[in-house]
Amino acid sequence: MIATVRKARRLQGEVRVPGDKSISHRALILGSIADGDSHFRGLSTGADVKSTAACMRALGVDITLAAVRGVGMRGLRAAASALDCGNSGTTMRLLAGLLSAQPFASELRGDESLSTRPMDRVVTPLREMGALHGIEYRPAVPSAQVKSAVMLAGLFAEGATAVIEPVATRNHTELMLSAMGAEVRVDGRRVEVRRVDRLAPIDMEIPGDLSSASFWLVASGLVRGSRVRITSVSINPTRSALIDLLRISGMTIEVDGARSVNGEPVADLVVGYAPELRPVSVDGTMAAEMIDELPVLAVAATQIAGTSHITGARELRVKESDRIAAMADGLSAMGADITAVDDGWVVKGPRHLEGARVRSHRDHRIAMALAVAGLLADGTTEIEDAECVEISYPGFFDQLESLC
Ligand code: S3P
Repeated sequence: MIATVRKARRLQGEVRVPGDKSISHRALILGSIADGDSHFRGLSTGADVKSTAACMRALGVDITLAAVRGVGMRGLRAAASALDCGNSGTTMRLLAGLLSAQPFASELRGDESLSTRPMDRVVTPLREMGALHGIEYRPAVPSAQVKSAVMLAGLFAEGATAVIEPVATRNHTELMLSAMGAEVRVDGRRVEVRRVDRLAPIDMEIPGDLSSASFWLVASGLVRGSRVRITSVSINPTRSALIDLLRISGMTIEVDGARSVNGEPVADLVVGYAPELRPVSVDGTMAAEMIDELPVLAVAATQIAGTSHITGARELRVKESDRIAAMADGLSAMGADITAVDDGWVVKGPRHLEGARVRSHRDHRIAMALAVAGLLADGTTEIEDAECVEISYPGFFDQLESLC
C-alpha cells in the first residue's frame, strides 16, 4: 500500500494512541505464567503483540479478549511446530529467555527482517545460565529485550540472576513482575531477580504508547497553529527522554492528570506549536533512552535552525531496518540536509521539505516518521509499503487524517 500524505494546515484535537507495545508483550508473557486469570484492557492491537499472543497460544495458553488464563510457572506445553515471531524482536528475545527455562525444546522463527537481526546478545547469557543457575550479566549494549530475556530465565533459575546494564533501559518487566508479587531488586543500573514458585495474576489498563505518541508530539510542535491532546500515555521515566529533550529544545508539553497504573506512570500530554526551537544534541546514553523515537526526532531536526547532532545510536542499524540509512534516504529525497554517520545523523536546518515518493523499508517507525515529514512538506508525499504501520499502530493514517 502506498500512503499519501499532504502538507498539514494544523493539527488539532484529541487522540488515544494504541496500548504500549512493550507493556503489552510483557502482559501476555507474564500473564501466561501467572497462577490464574489476568485481565488487560487496551492491549496493543499491533501485529507484533499479535505475534506474542499467537506464540503463547501455541504454548498452550488460553488468551481471549477478556483474559489471559495463566497456566502457572510449570504449565507451558511444547508447541506443535516452530513459533512464528513475525517481525517482532521483543517476541523472539523475551521468549528465548522464557523458553530456555522450559523442560522442552522450542524453535523460534521470524520474518525476513527479524531473521537478520542479532540474537547472540540473548543466546550468550542464556547459554551462560546453563542448566539454569543465576548469573551476573553485563550486556555490551543497553537492551531491555536482553535484560528481560535474562530476567525471565532467572525466574526459573537456581540462586540470584542479575543484569547490570551500561544504560538503564525501559523497566516494564521489573514493574510488572513486582506487581505480580515477584521480588525484584533494583539498584541503579543493576536489576536482580530470584526464582519464583508463583506469580499472582493482575488486572491492568495498558497505558498508551509514548513511542506512538512521539509522532504527534513532533508533528504538533512543528506545524503552525497546532494543539493536540494525547490521552492516557505512559510517561514512565525510562521511556520519556524524548519529552525532556523536546522541552529543552523549546516545546511546551503539558502533563495533565498524572497517575499510576500497576506502577506505570500515566498522564495526558498536551502539546502545541512551538515557534522557536533550538537544535538538539543526542549522545549515547540519551540515544539508548529514546531509541525508538530517534527517526521522528531526525524529522524535527530538519525544521530547527542550526545543526543537530543525533549520535551514539548505532543500534538503529539493527532495528526492523537500518534506520540510519532509511531516514537519511527518505529525508534527503524530500530536500533535507541530513548526513548519515556511523552511529546517527547530522542534520542542518531549517530546510524546506518537498513531497516525494519515499520508501518505508517495511519498517513501521520509518513509515510514520516520514509521514510526519510529509505533514511538513509542500505537495504530496507518497510512502511505499505503508501497511507496515500495523506492526505497532493500526489506524495511524486514519488518526493522522482526523487530526489534520
Ligand atoms: C523493547 C526494547 C527496545 C525497543 C523495542 C521494544 C522492549 O529494543 O527498541 O521497540 O519492549 O523491550 P532493545 O531492547 O533491543 O533496545
